[in-house]
Amino acid sequence: MKVRKAVFPVAGLGTRFLPATKSMPKEMLPLVDKPIIQYAVEEALASGIEEIIFVTGKGKSALEDHFDRSYHLEETLKERKKDLLLKEVESVVPATGTIVYTRQNEPLGLGHAIWCARNIVGDEPFAVLLADDVIQTDVPVLSQMIEQFDRLRASVVATIEVDPAETSKYGIVEPDNSFSDDVVRIKGLIEKPEKDEAPSNLAIIGRYILTPRIFDILGKGIVGAGNEIQLTDAMSMLLEKQPIYAYNFEGKRFDCGDKAGFQMANLAFALDRPELKKELMAFMKELAC
Ligand code: G1P
Repeated sequence: MKVRKAVFPVAGLGTRFLPATKSMPKEMLPLVDKPIIQYAVEEALASGIEEIIFVTGKGKSALEDHFDRSYHLEETLKERKKDLLLKEVESVVPATGTIVYTRQNEPLGLGHAIWCARNIVGDEPFAVLLADDVIQTDVPVLSQMIEQFDRLRASVVATIEVDPAETSKYGIVEPDNSFSDDVVRIKGLIEKPEKDEAPSNLAIIGRYILTPRIFDILGKGIVGAGNEIQLTDAMSMLLEKQPIYAYNFEGKRFDCGDKAGFQMANLAFALDRPELKKELMAFMKELAC
């Protein structure tokens, strides 16, 4: 079955970016000139996703407005003959009916957020994108993963190797022996283990393709690391019934949920813009002197 739907959990409070996120969703922080969330939505649409499911919470209406038409702004840009900007603004809005919103009305964790989308996803495989993880690449990571899903017919999670001192920030995979170039069958999974408990340094990055069976497990509401219902724990239980693969994707990942990672992403994406590169390079040279 084709992967048609993608779930975006966007109910988090964004406390790491306070006070910037006091009255603005963290997903709306700009990466150069686009909000973080737009990168993930564009990635999903470019990968053939037909339905975007936002699991939102209180104070997230700016997200809905961002992906909606803004007639007043469009009219003003038209009058001022700002054609390029107008095109840009119009291109943010996916076709009518592509986006569906539901709410996570209790902060019970990532697994719970995904479970909130169960009735909208229904009985089909689906993608999950964590917008904090922004990936710079030529081929969208989700489309790389869909290709793997189509080949393996099983759940796939994106992984990278991290510094062993940093395993407690991630879901960590215990790989099976059967290695291929970029795909590894998973033997076990553990959420945020300390360095000495981690089975490897292969960390889950916020891109998943899951089978709907995960919803039955999430529905049990089992609480794990950090006292939350964890997606990693549910996947670990899913492993008893179905295989799951780790996919080491092509691309550079930035952790935009972290202040330093967010600044690095801004720099990397800005340097990718011909109109900004020269000025920024000159400024960096000046700083380094
Ligand atoms: C979540 C997941 C974790 C994963 C990480 C990737 O953690 O629970 O398994 O490694 O995203 O960014 P969070 O960063 O939301 O605490």
